[in-house]
Amino acid sequence: MSMGNLDQLYRQVIMDHYKTPRNKGDLEQEGLTVQLNNPTCGDRIELQMAVKDGKIEDAKFKGDGCSISMASASMMTEAIKGLTIDRALQLSEIFSEMMLGQEYDEGEFDLGDIEALQGVSKFPARIKCATLAWKAMEKSVGKEDDIDEDFE
Ligand code: FES
Repeated sequence: MSMGNLDQLYRQVIMDHYKTPRNKGDLEQEGLTVQLNNPTCGDRIELQMAVKDGKIEDAKFKGDGCSISMASASMMTEAIKGLTIDRALQLSEIFSEMMLGQEYDEGEFDLGDIEALQGVSKFPARIKCATLAWKAMEKSVGKEDDIDEDFE
């Protein structure tokens, strides 16, 4: 597939998640809830996760934001369901490397639709859009205690 066709496919995947977000709404059970702002635009996400015995059983999100932020939240919540917290944090690390434009090794993970976001690394102003949901996930499991309502 040529790069042009691949870019087009990736754009379609992003728009599909934006227009038909997966896991948007509220959990049916009690869960961890965290809210995070993107300081560059003020957009906000609320992430809810049901965690049992160290495993993420369900994840939902709410919020308003650009297509990249909402698509990323949709993809992230899809990807982390069923993972242990440690595995979800590993996946977040891989996603960070992708956003920094670094070589990344997906290892045993199947990144699937997430790979459609790799082009965001070429647009530094949009990287926080793509990482907002992932940082919310890290915050909710206590990895990023220092992330306040905004993150840098
Ligand atoms: Fe606000 Fe992307 S412009 S999250």
